[in-house]
Amino acid sequence: MSKNATLEINGQKYEFPLVTGTENEVAIDIKDLRAVTGGVTTIDPGYKNTGSCESSITFLDGEKGILRYRGYSIEELAEKADFLEVAYLLIFGELPTQEELDKFKKDICDQSIVDEDIRKIVDAFPKSAHPMGVISSLTSALTSFNPSSVNVDSKEDMYKAIVKILGKFPVLVAWTLRKKQGLPLDYGDCSLGYVENTYKMMFKQPNKDYTTNEVVINALNKLLILHADHEQNCSTSTVRIVGSSHAGLFASLSAGISALWGPLHGGANQAVLEMLEAIKEDGGDTKKYMAKAKDKDDPFRLMGFGHRVYKNFDPRAKIIKKAADDVLEQLGVEDPILDIAKGLEKEALNDSYFVDRKLYPNVDFYSGIIYRAMGIPTDMFTVMFALGRLPGWIAQWREMRLRKEPIGRPRQLYVGETQRAFKPMSKR
Ligand code: SDX
Repeated sequence: MSKNATLEINGQKYEFPLVTGTENEVAIDIKDLRAVTGGVTTIDPGYKNTGSCESSITFLDGEKGILRYRGYSIEELAEKADFLEVAYLLIFGELPTQEELDKFKKDICDQSIVDEDIRKIVDAFPKSAHPMGVISSLTSALTSFNPSSVNVDSKEDMYKAIVKILGKFPVLVAWTLRKKQGLPLDYGDCSLGYVENTYKMMFKQPNKDYTTNEVVINALNKLLILHADHEQNCSTSTVRIVGSSHAGLFASLSAGISALWGPLHGGANQAVLEMLEAIKEDGGDTKKYMAKAKDKDDPFRLMGFGHRVYKNFDPRAKIIKKAADDVLEQLGVEDPILDIAKGLEKEALNDSYFVDRKLYPNVDFYSGIIYRAMGIPTDMFTVMFALGRLPGWIAQWREMRLRKEPIGRPRQLYVGETQRAFKPMSKR
């Protein structure tokens, strides 16, 4: 392969270096494009062809349906790892030794108390508030109570900020849920595992003993691992660009949570359940919704289908679909919604509209069915996505800051009015 790409503009040729990644992906390095061409830029709506950074964290191959965190396959990690192990791997680059993991868990536990004044912020929200708006606000509010975690540069200060958010975020998730349910806002038990403690904080009842359901905890551990990172998706790119201004970690994460909220992104898991419920209410008429999804005049999309990168099955969807069968069987839950989902998937996979556009089920298509079987309310599904994605966002933010990436500031192509004189009111 040649070392350069050649661009010809108005008869003038320009050479730009080709860079190759460790998975043999090739990119054109256009860092000097404007300078050498006298101002020519590129335009790429949605950045479908544009790389924002070099990263060593997550690799995915959309054609082959491959997803790896720091070189480890998602299949192995989902099967064999613990969520906190995967968080450590994503953030620091290696699977932790037992000693490293124990210290990580202890440091996180030591930070798993939030300032009592945060209760007042939680109390101020109406019960009707969407949990994503609540958790995004509470995450940003953490900056006010932990000012030392704002503009951190050293690895040591970043570590302190990281264990703070990993300790406090599960408390905020639990309080966000319990506020809606009118339940006391309490703490968990650090002697439990990270995932088990989170689930206990969310669901323990003040008047009953709490017993752990291993099936639920194992399924939640797997789901959180599957959601932990996904290279430069919308919310991760948001975390990186907000962090590139040297805004603090918590502020960057709060922005990422807001980006994840959208139904085209993490909000899709809630939208999938609402869609499946609507189909069920409609007598299971999947054909009507397939027709709506294909109708260009209808804004309806088949939620949980399609992906910017995967033009094959999302490997996470395969794992979650199998887990859905297992978890519902182990919990003894009969959910007709699962059958509707499978019917819809089968129809879509045999429909030329979806096949031609390479639209397959994505991570959000089946996850809500498992969350629902775990007793998690639908409007909390995207909060669970955020809980899973937290270590990935942290890892990407840390990588961007340690690599001293420049502030993110894309260019544009101006297509508005050219210069014109001010028009007095009498002439408007
Ligand atoms: C996540 O990026 C990530 O990695 C995200 C994520 C992560 O882990 O961070 O994987 C998590 O966000 C998964 C995606 C969840 N969103 C949904 O399930 C919402 C439904 N899906 C779509 O809105 C859509 O597929 C996107 C947003 C996911 C991807 O959109 P693209 O890449 O911009 O594709 P597109 O909108 O250009 O669609 C291409 C064609 C269009 O038709 P034509 O104009 O070519 O005729 O496919 C059609 C679209 O209309 N299409 C769909 C569709 N998705 C795409 N038609 C019906 N139903 C759909 N779901």
